[in-house]
Amino acid sequence: MSVRIGFIGVGGMAKYHIQTLKGIENANIVSVYDVNLEAAVQAAESVGASVKDSADELLDSAAIDAVFICTPQFARGELEETAARRGIHMFVEKPLGLDMNIVQKKAQIIHDSGVINASGYCLRYLDTVRKAKAYLQGRSIHMVQANRYGTNHPAKWWRTLEQSGGHLVDAVTHQVDMIRFVAGEFREVYAKFGRTNIQFQYPDATIYDAGSISFSMDSGAVGSITESCISPYHADAEVKIFGRDFFVHLSNNGTTLSIMDEEQKITETSEIDFYQEQNKTFVNAVASGVQDQILCSFAEGVKTLAVSLAANQSEEEQKKIVL
Ligand SMILES: NC(=O)c1ccc[n+]([C@@H]2O[C@H](COP(=O)([O-])OP(=O)(O)OC[C@H]3O[C@@H](n4cnc5c(N)ncnc54)[C@H](O)[C@@H]3O)[C@@H](O)[C@H]2O)c1
Repeated sequence: MSVRIGFIGVGGMAKYHIQTLKGIENANIVSVYDVNLEAAVQAAESVGASVKDSADELLDSAAIDAVFICTPQFARGELEETAARRGIHMFVEKPLGLDMNIVQKKAQIIHDSGVINASGYCLRYLDTVRKAKAYLQGRSIHMVQANRYGTNHPAKWWRTLEQSGGHLVDAVTHQVDMIRFVAGEFREVYAKFGRTNIQFQYPDATIYDAGSISFSMDSGAVGSITESCISPYHADAEVKIFGRDFFVHLSNNGTTLSIMDEEQKITETSEIDFYQEQNKTFVNAVASGVQDQILCSFAEGVKTLAVSLAANQSEEEQKKIVL
């Protein structure tokens, strides 16, 4: 079955999706909508799709089977609810929103509709990450340490706390999700964020430029995440998992896996294009009508969002948040 796809929001991330979907045989991008008409026309021309006048017009179940929702997280409105009610399958970029009540209601509507759904936690599709998950099954983890340092997104919405949620909610969410995927659920979160440097780059910025998050997990393990979006001289994204008889290190954003224990000391680098793998899995799920192979459903993405929003709440209320 050829899957007819519509795109809502065709900025930087959507361009990656469009590029990878071009290489997927049964994916057919047929329509595009963006508030920026020029961006919509450019994206549509690159794949021979039509430009729609509104998101509502694009969400026509007679014309598309699936929609990629790639607007920023503050600009999703009721897109997911509309798609679900019209029986349109959906891929929704992470993070899934900025308000847990709203996002949980969306998850319920999507669940009740029975449409195929995915959220953009693409790093789950790395073979290295899956191998780490398999290795950690049944092992006793006592500590997790993660970090993400780098630079920020150029868009104004990104540096506006109310619109992006900040670096943790928007970008470090990938590391939060990786921890959940390979090591289990978060239980408590205590966060401290700072804002001492970003105003030198962007005087209008309201996001934090660094964060330090302490947490405990359902297993009893404890851990921490440190992050900065003002670090041009040192970029990194990694998750380290410690046990008394092993050490697992997912470095280079999860693309490199090292495992150390009494029997082995291995390091592997993934050759997989995780966006391609993620999008192929979604398109095949829509074509077959089976959700099973999708590694991060909308509901799973909601659980990851809950951790980073709890960290923001912890900073605001200056207290530990229990998930
Ligand atoms: N999975 C990943 O690795 C990854 C990487 C980057 C970004 N993202 C996510 O993708 C989303 C988009 O990020 P981006 O980098 O493409 O941002 P961007 O600013 O480059 O593009 C956003 C696009 O959405 C359009 N838009 C804004 N409001 C709209 C609305 N109401 N209706 C239709 N179009 C609208 C804008 O005109 C723009 O073209 C964000 O949620 C971001 O967190 C995910």
